[in-house]
Amino acid sequence: MVQRWRQQLADLAATGMLRTLRTVEPGEQGAVLIDGRRVLLLCSNNYLGLAEHPALIEAALAATSRYGVGSGGSRLISGSMFPHRQFEERLAAFKGTESALLFNSGYAANTGILQGLLEPEDVIFSDSLNHASIIDGCRLSPARTVVYPHSDVTALAALMAAESPQRRGRWLIVSDGVFSMDGDLAPIPALVRLKQQHDALLMIDDAHGTGVLGAGGRGTAEHFGCQGEVDLHMGTLGKALGGFGAYLAAARPIIEILINRSRSFIFSTALPPSVPAVASAALELVDSPAGAELRASLWQNRQRFVARLVAAGLDLAGSVTQIVPVLTYDPEPTMHAARRLLEAGIFLSGIRPPTVPAGRCRLRATVMATHDPLELDAAADAIVDAVKSYSLLVP
Ligand SMILES: Cc1ncc(COP(=O)(O)O)c(C=O)c1O
Repeated sequence: MVQRWRQQLADLAATGMLRTLRTVEPGEQGAVLIDGRRVLLLCSNNYLGLAEHPALIEAALAATSRYGVGSGGSRLISGSMFPHRQFEERLAAFKGTESALLFNSGYAANTGILQGLLEPEDVIFSDSLNHASIIDGCRLSPARTVVYPHSDVTALAALMAAESPQRRGRWLIVSDGVFSMDGDLAPIPALVRLKQQHDALLMIDDAHGTGVLGAGGRGTAEHFGCQGEVDLHMGTLGKALGGFGAYLAAARPIIEILINRSRSFIFSTALPPSVPAVASAALELVDSPAGAELRASLWQNRQRFVARLVAAGLDLAGSVTQIVPVLTYDPEPTMHAARRLLEAGIFLSGIRPPTVPAGRCRLRATVMATHDPLELDAAADAIVDAVKSYSLLVP
C-alpha cells in the first residue's frame, strides 16, 4: 500500500516538484540559521519584524500568565475570553466596521466565510489568482462561483452583465488585496464601482496588505481610499502583524450569521488567549509613529532591492509591493536557482504549480523592514547572477 505513495514521491522528485520541509533557527536582522549557518531570510511574511518585537513578546507572556496556554474549547461551547473580545473590538475600530470576528487562520477564515455566509441562489465572482483558501472556500460554499481573469474588470463587468438576467440571490466579489504570488494590487476602486452598479458585496482578503499598506497600515483599501466601500475586510495576523490567526471585519449581521453558520469557526477550538493579546499589541504598534517608521523602512528597502532587479532586466510579474517574484518559468531552473542562492547564503523559495500556474514558476522574494539595505543589494546581485547564469544553460 505504501508503495503507491513511494512511487508518487519518486515521480514528484523526477519532475522537480517534490516539496520538503526545512528547519530554521532564529537569526538577527532579517536572517535565520540553517544547519548552523546564517542566511538572509528573503521568504518571510514577517514584513515589519513584529514576530520578535519585545512589546508583542511581552503581551504573549502577560496573557499566558493570566489566562493559561490554551482556550479549552470552541467559543460557542466554552465562552470567549477577554483577549478575544478585546481584539475584535480593537480591530473593528481599526478597520472602521461595526463588528469583527477572529478566525483560527486565514485558511479557516476564507473557507468559513464563503461557506457560512452564502446560499445556493447566490453567486461568488472570484479573481483567477485568488489564494488557495478562497478557492477552497468557493468549493465549500453553497453559492455558485464565476471565476474572472486576473484583475480584469472589463471581463468581470461582462460576466456580471451576462449573469444579470437570471439573478436570484446575492452577489459577492472576492479578491486578494495584494496578490500573494505576484505582489500586485487588486483594482479595488474599479471593483467598488462594479459592486455599486450591481448591488453586490465586496470582500477583500488583505493577508499581505494589513499593517503595511495605507498611511495608517489599514491595508490595500486604505491605500486606495476605499476603506468604507469594502463590505468584508478579511485579513491574517500571521504576516505583518507578527503573530497567528485571522479576522473578518464587517457589519454586525454578517459577523453574527458567521457565528451561527461558519463551520471553521464553530467546530474548532478557539485560539490560545496569548494569540489575540499579541494581535492587539500589534495593532497598537502598527497604528503608532513606530509603525509608520517601520513601513517607511519597508518601502525604502523594497525600492532599493527592486531597482537592481529591474536594472538587470528581470521579469517581476508586475509586483508593486514587498512581495517580489522573479519569473523563472519552469520548475527545474527555478529550483536550481533557489539551491544555488541558498549555498550563497540567501534563503528564498522557488514557487511551482499548483501554487502558481504551469510555466509561471518563480523565485519569490519578500522584503522586510528589518533587512539590512547592504545585504539586500548583495542578495539582488546574487539573484540576477543565479537567474542569468542558468538561463545561459537553457537552449
Ligand atoms: C492571500 C492569503 N489569504 C489567506 C492566507 C492563509 O492565511 P493563514 O496562513 O493564516 O492560514 C494566505 C497565506 O497564508 C494568503 O496569502
